[in-house]
Order: sequence, then structure tokens, then C-alpha cells
Amino acid sequence: MTLRVSVIGTGYLGATHAACISSLGFQVIGVDVDPKKIELLSKGKVPFYEPDLEELLAAEIQSGRLTFSNDFGTIADADIHFICVGTPQQANSLAADMRFVDAALDAIAPLAKTGSLIVGKSTVPVGTAERLRQRLSAVNPGVELAWNPEFLREGFAVEDTLRPNRLVVGVTSDAAENKLKELYKSNLDAGTPWVRADLPTAELVKVAANSFLATKISFINAMAEVCEAAGGDVTVLAKAIGYDPRIGNRFLQAGIGFGGGCLPKDIRAFMARAGELGAEQALEFLREIDSINLRARQRVIELVRSDLSDDLQGKKIAVLGAAFKPDSDDVRDSPALDIAAQIQAAGARVVVHDPKAIENAQMRFPALAFESEIENTLTGADLVLHLTEWKIYREIDPVKAKALVTGAIMIDGRNALDRDKWIAAGWKFRALGRASHN
Ligand code: UDX
Repeated sequence: MTLRVSVIGTGYLGATHAACISSLGFQVIGVDVDPKKIELLSKGKVPFYEPDLEELLAAEIQSGRLTFSNDFGTIADADIHFICVGTPQQANSLAADMRFVDAALDAIAPLAKTGSLIVGKSTVPVGTAERLRQRLSAVNPGVELAWNPEFLREGFAVEDTLRPNRLVVGVTSDAAENKLKELYKSNLDAGTPWVRADLPTAELVKVAANSFLATKISFINAMAEVCEAAGGDVTVLAKAIGYDPRIGNRFLQAGIGFGGGCLPKDIRAFMARAGELGAEQALEFLREIDSINLRARQRVIELVRSDLSDDLQGKKIAVLGAAFKPDSDDVRDSPALDIAAQIQAAGARVVVHDPKAIENAQMRFPALAFESEIENTLTGADLVLHLTEWKIYREIDPVKAKALVTGAIMIDGRNALDRDKWIAAGWKFRALGRASHN
């Protein structure tokens, strides 16, 4: 008989996981404590922007394999339960807030049928799985717990979930591993590498991967600082070191740094957890990674100040991009919005454009002005900041744009625009880690 699967928590990770597992032919029920989310998802609507997800979700609901509910009772019968709830940073510390994970486990533990498997997917401090395993066995000893971290990137969530570059399972028995192998059979048949680990290693794989990615980005941003001081060009440097296959050219895009719902909070929670474990020295470097990252935002603000002779009062600054990265409407810890808000606080009139993230940005920063048309955003601007590298911004014609603005100064915070084209059109062009051009 085919496996029945439940997905607890239908946010970014859970909604995508539910739709993708359903598309493999399994019966899936997604549950969430938020009735609004469930109502939308049941209608085939995704409460956030993610390419391809809405189409997949609607098709899976149509097929009858995928349903959503607020009632945890509906998932009692499932063979595998995935915990996909969030682990945000706590308000007053670097550590992760574990309330949602604990609540999910407590909700499913007494209901799960004997022989079923509860699988954590959320990013958690190492040691959580063992703690939950003990909690579970006290309530329902017939149910096992496993950990199966998720590595999906926003903007590529469906692709990354359906065709992951590896599957990592933390298990304490062959039976648990075999059940997960049954679920992921199509990936295994397609040759996806399968890594069996113990519970703490599986949890650590996720935070180690995100720490490495964050380190790569901050490394190139540190090189950008040195390039600025020495008159070098970080984009050429990144290309040149990237040809070494041991280094690789991915994640070496210098600019205003990383944001989003994962990298910043994950490295902070990792440091906090290492401290608890007495291994804080090992992750001391992540503090520096975090500082380099936040410094990149300040360096852009300094460029704005120097280009406007330190007088931001009343100046119109056009900000292109609000999302933390392109192809996403996620503004959590968005470097673009952080910069926009700081410039506005310094007295400028900031107008922010984004093709998808305005609604979310408005909720977080109601004092900022937003525009849905690029033209209106640019009109009368004294300076333009390119802060999220959406494709549409690379397609802007610098000649036409120059006719709209008051001051033809472009600061490319993502090193993604064609500098020569903008300079040829008569713009002053600034970018992090590259010499300035007037
Ligand atoms: C990340 C991990 O990539 C993913 O594997 C994990 O599961 C969740 O966290 P995501 O947050 O979706 O995914 O975004 P990612 O593509 O990693 O980008 C993170 C941030 O780094 C963005 O703000 C992006 O703009 C920035 N970035 C990325 C750079 O500044 N330079 C780069 O070269 C790459």
C-alpha cells in the first residue's frame, strides 16, 4: 500500500514539501494552526511568491492526493509525519525559538499510530532531535523519530525539493531509513546521493552547509573591502579565483550581503548552540562573518552619503528591490529594506520598487514609500540604488532612465548591472568592491 504522509506546518518549507511529495504519487495532508493559510492552500493558492509552486499545488489538489486541514485528527492515520514549522531567531538572543517545533511534536505524539515515523525537517539546534525522541517515547513508544534536513533555496523551492543534490537522513534504526527510502524511491532511482547519519550529524549538516555558504559570501565581501582600499575590482577577482574547482564560482557575488529567513538566523543560532555545548571558540569566526555581512550595508550607505555630499535631507532616493533576493517576495532580514530604512531615517525621501515584495515590505516598513512602476520610482530621483538583482532591473535602458532622474548616479549594490552600458549613457556608476566611475 502506498504511504500516507502528513506535513505539519505549511509555510515555505511545508507547503512546498507537501505539494512535491504529493506529486510523487503519495497521499498527503498538510496541517497548520493558521486557519488563513489552510483556507488559501485548500483553494490551490500559495500565500507567498514562489515560481512553479502554485501550479503544482493546484494540480495536486485537483488530483485528490493533496488536502489541507486545521484538524490534527485528520493526520492520525499517516505513516510518515513531517515537521516543517519555523524556528525564527528569539527576540532577545541569538538562539532559535523552538516553541513551534515543540508544539508540533506535542500535537502529533499522542495521535500518531504505532509503527509510524515522525521526521523533523525544520532547521534546529543540534540536540533537538534527541530531546524530541525522548519526549516522544515517553508519550508514544511505538513511534520513531528521524531527521531529514531540507536544503531548498527560495526561488527554486520546487526544483530543489523534487531534484535535491543530496538526501540526508538522521535515523536510529534500519526500519526508519527504509521507510524514508520508500518515500524517496524516485530520487534514489535517479541517482541522488543518500547520506545516512545519526541524529546530531543530520541536524548539523544543515547548519554547517548554511554557515559555509554565509562564509563564502562574507569572504568575497571582505575581498570587496580590500579591493576598494587597493583600487582593485572584486568582480574580476571573484571570476579568477572561481576557476579553481576547489573554490568554485558560485556564491561569490559581492554586494550588500546575505539576508532572508535562513542564513542570518541560522549562523546566529549555531553560535548560540555551540556556546551551550562549550564549543564556542570553534564558531568564533561566524561572528566575523555576521559583522562583514552587516558592514556591507553600511558601506552602501556611506557611498550614498559621499555622492550626495553628506546631505540627504529631502533628496529622493530610488531603491530598486525590496526582497532579500530575486524571484522571492520574502523580505525577512532583507539587506535592501534595511538600507532603504536607514537612508530614510537620515532624512532622504526613499521610494522603493519591487516586482513582488511590496506588500510584505509595506507590512514591515509602513513608513517607507513604495511604487509599483519602475518609471515612477526613477522620476526625479537624485540617486538610484540597485539592491535586489531582479532580471527586470538589468533590462532597464540607462539612456531612457537618465531622462527620468534628476541625478544620474547609480549605486549597484549587487554587482549585477552592465557597468559599461550605464557609464556610456552618462551615469556616475558606483559598486561595492570596484573603483568608482564618473
Ligand atoms: C539558503 C540556502 O541556500 C539553502 O540551501 C537553505 O536551505 C536556506 O538558506 P535562501 O535563503 O533561499 O537559501 O537564499 P540563498 O540563495 O542562499 O541566498 C541567501 C542570501 O545571500 C541572499 O540575500 C542573497 O542575495 C545573498 N547572496 C547569495 C549574496 O549576497 N551573494 C551570493 O553570491 C549569493
